[in-house]
Amino acid sequence: MAQNDSTMSTPPYDLVAFGATSFVGKILCRYLWEEFGAQGAIKWAAAARSKAKLEELRISLGGSAAPLPLVVADAADEVSLRRLCASTRVVVSTVGPYALYGEPLVKACAESGTDYCDLSGEVQWIRRMLQRYEATARKSGARLVHCCGFDSIPSDMGVHFLQCQAMKQLGAPCTRVKMRVKVMRGEFSGGTVASLMNVVKEAAADPALRKELADPYSLCPVGTVPKVRQPNVRSAEFDVDFGAWVAPFVMSGINTRIVQRTNALSGQAYGADFTYDEALLTGRGLKGRFAATATAAGLYGFMLAAAIRPARAVLERFVLPKPGEGPDPEAQRTGFFDLRFFGTRADGRKIRIKVTGDRDPGYGSTGKMLGQAAACLALDVDKIAKPGGFWTPATIFGDRLIQRLTARSGLTFDLVPDLQN
Ligand SMILES: NC(=O)c1ccc[n+]([C@@H]2O[C@H](COP(=O)([O-])OP(=O)(O)OC[C@H]3O[C@@H](n4cnc5c(N)ncnc54)[C@H](OP(=O)(O)O)[C@@H]3O)[C@@H](O)[C@H]2O)c1
Repeated sequence: MAQNDSTMSTPPYDLVAFGATSFVGKILCRYLWEEFGAQGAIKWAAAARSKAKLEELRISLGGSAAPLPLVVADAADEVSLRRLCASTRVVVSTVGPYALYGEPLVKACAESGTDYCDLSGEVQWIRRMLQRYEATARKSGARLVHCCGFDSIPSDMGVHFLQCQAMKQLGAPCTRVKMRVKVMRGEFSGGTVASLMNVVKEAAADPALRKELADPYSLCPVGTVPKVRQPNVRSAEFDVDFGAWVAPFVMSGINTRIVQRTNALSGQAYGADFTYDEALLTGRGLKGRFAATATAAGLYGFMLAAAIRPARAVLERFVLPKPGEGPDPEAQRTGFFDLRFFGTRADGRKIRIKVTGDRDPGYGSTGKMLGQAAACLALDVDKIAKPGGFWTPATIFGDRLIQRLTARSGLTFDLVPDLQN
């Protein structure tokens, strides 16, 4: 077991994966192990609250001359979190729901100047962290990056890629961008369901929070919010640009907020009148219309049931996966996603790109995206060019992460010829 000592000046690790025994944390650790071993380009350790589970994880990763270092820390114990921060330059956390367990670690990182990234997609919690710890992080130099998984790397980096192509080919950014999910094959884990249920539970009890969640600019810094009304696909509708029906997309509530924050942090690089929305493509004709209507009804039915306590209890007890459960390795291997982005410039010229992933979005691909985001934070991002504070994936990582994702994480970012959707 590695010793943590808060008095040491050079931390022994570049990176510590906290929550290593969670469903997605195990996928992340396997990926980091395959990429870096124990003594590769990144010196890293696995951390969790249970020493026994960590040792099981180490055994499951297989033998090596240099065993994976392990660190015991508890998300509720500030002393252990301070020791964790002193042992590393970067913490990557999969301990969630973040709204329940995440704040003490964000605080410890912000205070100690330790860089941090995670998989949180919980808007209300991210907003709270920004309000409480932005000033501290700026002072200490800690860079904090939420949403480094399927929400919201493909959306945030996809829009970044589209705008770079628009600048190159059309000479200006696109003021209107749509993301449409063409194909997505994957399932939810118990941890993701618990996070989603917690957001619905908090929102059901708090009207002010419901208003906050409905605000497309809720993660933008004060004073940067434009007056543009943002589009939002709330029901089945026909999308003329894609020539197909679309339905609401469950992740759009977080992804659109991150993309708007990227625009705000980059001084409105996408334009002060930039609009962005996300939806699921369901196909053409009557079949597509029916699928869009059924998807929208299913989503609202689920949200309603989750908001009502007895129905939520039934869902949690009998229907949904429990914490620690999730898609099996075969489902992760055969899963994939294909996202289409359509950008329109103010003069009507258009550009299309696509982003694809070669594993199920929430786990197989998310583990690899999170691993490369953490590696990018540890190895690529200059402390002077990108100082302390809360960043988005696109604003802190930019093209460097796209290179890593395409080279090492099975993602593709490509231009799509005009006639192809
Ligand atoms: N953004 C995305 O695309 C994306 C994708 C996947 C998951 N996620 C999010 O990632 C998080 C993890 O998901 P999951 O399915 O892996 O969840 P999970 O399997 O339920 O894992 C939760 C983890 O939290 C740990 N934990 C709970 N309390 C703790 C404490 N006091 N100290 C230390 N550790 C503690 C648990 O430790 P033990 O192992 O000891 O029980 C467990 O490892 C969720 O918030 C989920 O929403 C996001």
